Amino acid sequence: MKTSKMQAIRVHQYGGVEELQLESIECPRPGDNEVLIKVHAAGVLPIDWKQRQGIFKHLRPMQFPYIPGSAIAGIIEDVGKYVTKFQIGQEVFGRSSTGAYAEYITTDIERLAIKPPELSFAEAASISGGATTAWQALFVNGNIQKGQRVLIHGAAGGVGSFAVQLAVWQGAQVIGTCSAANVEMVKALGASEVIDYTSCRFEDIVKEVDMVLDTVGGDTLERSYAVVKRGGVLLSFAGQISPEKARELGIRAEFSNTLLSADAMQEIAQVMADGHVKAIISHSYPLHAARDAHIQSQTGHGRGRIVLEIQRSL
Ligand SMILES: NC(=O)c1ccc[n+]([C@@H]2O[C@H](COP(=O)([O-])OP(=O)(O)OC[C@H]3O[C@@H](n4cnc5c(N)ncnc54)[C@H](OP(=O)(O)O)[C@@H]3O)[C@@H](O)[C@H]2O)c1
Repeated sequence: MKTSKMQAIRVHQYGGVEELQLESIECPRPGDNEVLIKVHAAGVLPIDWKQRQGIFKHLRPMQFPYIPGSAIAGIIEDVGKYVTKFQIGQEVFGRSSTGAYAEYITTDIERLAIKPPELSFAEAASISGGATTAWQALFVNGNIQKGQRVLIHGAAGGVGSFAVQLAVWQGAQVIGTCSAANVEMVKALGASEVIDYTSCRFEDIVKEVDMVLDTVGGDTLERSYAVVKRGGVLLSFAGQISPEKARELGIRAEFSNTLLSADAMQEIAQVMADGHVKAIISHSYPLHAARDAHIQSQTGHGRGRIVLEIQRSL
């Protein structure tokens, strides 16, 4: 590493996008069990702006100042003295707790995997919090089977676009919901039916599905219980589940969290490298435009993942 200083976005207090400050700060050094990564791309996830706004401040308070972002892809620049699994120069991707919106990040290796050469850094940065979330819900929490019917809300989004493709890859029949602008794209991802939520109510069209994956929450989640068949499952990433309602209807309903291992992340990357599933990158911004990236993400509408391409901005 040539310099001891790096550019990073830091947040010093909860608030609006103006709290995303581009600063020149000390470059971190890896601890004994950590690696130092030169970050090439960072995924911009809805949780990044929710944390910055303080939405989770009572549940998981942030330590200020902090560098936002958890989804990373880059090149290992240095390794701690106990790290044997990774070497300097390897291209990796994965997840850290925070710190992704920076030229360099130190992180433990628990959720790091090798980036296949077929994937760009931006594509690899879209895996954590997108493909991992969809994979966990479909294959771990939902145990989806070939031939089952699954309704995916927010099918065009950072999680939903992966969920549609992974479910189709597994042999499921996918029905997706999105706005009119994204209908053709979701069809192209493999959904057999796509419902424009701005012009009709999905429950008037879909009944008796094996599984619902909800990335929208609120009223969409509330209306989803009724379309799951008895014995089926409703998984939400975005809203509060009612166990009572699920029990009454004889379905399983759960909030779905992402807790995937590095091995599972490696498997996902290979499925992508083999061409079964592709990352959709809707917008790419340089590091200094992190505010624009958050403004875009906060709209709650769009296609696939937004990324910061960190090295592009230097
Ligand atoms: N629990 C977890 O571990 C976990 C992990 C990742 C994400 N999440 C949460 O899951 C949610 C989605 O994340 P994301 O990364 O996919 O967000 P995103 O990339 O911003 O995508 C949101 C998508 O929702 C669609 N949408 C908005 N309103 C809709 C409606 N009424 N019906 C159907 N689709 C609608 C939008 O499509 P249109 O443009 O077509 O409207 C957009 O494509 C966020 O709340 C996020 O915090 C949770």
